Amino acid sequence: MKILLVGGGGREHAIAWAVAKSPRCDKLYAAPGNAGIAELAECVDISVMDAPSLVKFAKEKEIDFVIVAPDDPLAAGVADAFLDEGIRTFGPRKNAAIIEASKAFSKDLMKKYDIPSAAYETFTDPDEALKYLETQDAPYVLKADGLALGKGVLICQDLDEAKEGIKEIMIDKKFGDAGNKLVIEEFMTGREVSVLCFSDGKTILPMTSAQDHKRAGDGDTGLNTGGMGTFSPSPFYTDEVAKFCEENVYQRTIDAMAAEGRPFKGVLFCGLMLTPKGPKVLEFNARFGDPEAQVVIPRLKNDIVEVMEACADGTLDKIDLQFEDNAAVCVMLASDGYPVSYKKGFEIRGLENFKDKDGYYVFHSGTKFADTEDGKKVVTNGGRVLGVVALGDDLLEARANAYKATELIDFDNKYMRHDIGKAIDEQ
Ligand code: AMP
Ligand code: GLY
Repeated sequence: MKILLVGGGGREHAIAWAVAKSPRCDKLYAAPGNAGIAELAECVDISVMDAPSLVKFAKEKEIDFVIVAPDDPLAAGVADAFLDEGIRTFGPRKNAAIIEASKAFSKDLMKKYDIPSAAYETFTDPDEALKYLETQDAPYVLKADGLALGKGVLICQDLDEAKEGIKEIMIDKKFGDAGNKLVIEEFMTGREVSVLCFSDGKTILPMTSAQDHKRAGDGDTGLNTGGMGTFSPSPFYTDEVAKFCEENVYQRTIDAMAAEGRPFKGVLFCGLMLTPKGPKVLEFNARFGDPEAQVVIPRLKNDIVEVMEACADGTLDKIDLQFEDNAAVCVMLASDGYPVSYKKGFEIRGLENFKDKDGYYVFHSGTKFADTEDGKKVVTNGGRVLGVVALGDDLLEARANAYKATELIDFDNKYMRHDIGKAIDEQ
């Protein structure tokens, strides 16, 4: 088949790596792709949001199967644009991607269908939100309703901070229209675990678990980022927790979406918190996580294209989803200063060290090709630059391997956290 992958980050590089090794794939295109994906696919310079150009390209090239990976195009209906033209596509329609794109929608869905989550109220009027806050105890959890690059959640330690937060989100519109509605949620405590699930709208198959490190600095300090590293599996996702979530979260959510006339086909990302009162849903995403995909996909035994086709075709009940009995750790190499301000355009050295190195991967997040005096070079082109991933028999070995592998790569202003997977030591 000819396959088109829409996206251009580390998650898409991991997907492209798995798709390119599938016997089902004869030719892979990526729009827009990046310097790493370019080794596996022909990259075409079309924006992920430009549905008309993407569809035109797919028709011209007679693409058989499309994978839409990032959140923004899914929320904007880019999967619909392909599906409406009769092109087989992996990724939810807009009316199902709303489970990520509107926190108010997902909270209402969970309440209606008895899916465990934090208590909440939704507001469109900042004065009403302020009045409600005064009846609640700290800490306060404020969530902008819409997509905000994973930064639309504020945890406020006192009332003054929370009042300022309401102003930022609803009045100053720090996250744009995402702040037209506000969800105020009960504060919960516990370990966080991410479970990504394949679904065809009826059947849901959970993948192996993972955990992200969202804060920029060691010891979970500093600002929230898109994710500074991940490990998989999570030792805290026990058989008992898995059983609870299978009974109370995954299937129930897919059935709820179908009952609402919004069948969900694609990857449902369940962000869970393991609270003293049992697992509860923090959030749903309508896609693979980034950098969760970078540790989950290398452990997948199945042909990813076959699984994605089954999601699109409604035949996921025929798939026996399997993961290796090993572990993976991803350490993000970022540009110093991320997520606030940082310089780009520095040459990246050492990428060749990962060629044919079994059990080691370097997935590009923010890179591009640049012409230099010595020819074409790969340079830094974003806050998060590369995800260095290593496998191991267990998490400790995977972590040691991943940190050793970070030394193989060098660029000016290289920054990383040194405690990715540290929670494992507490086991
Ligand atoms: P979300 O984008 O909804 O997953 O929120 C981002 C992060 O904020 C989560 O990964 C949690 O660390 C934290 N968070 C979100 N909701 C809550 C909550 N109700 N109680 C405590 N922490 C939360
Ligand atoms: N790593 C979190 C996300 O992709 O939303």
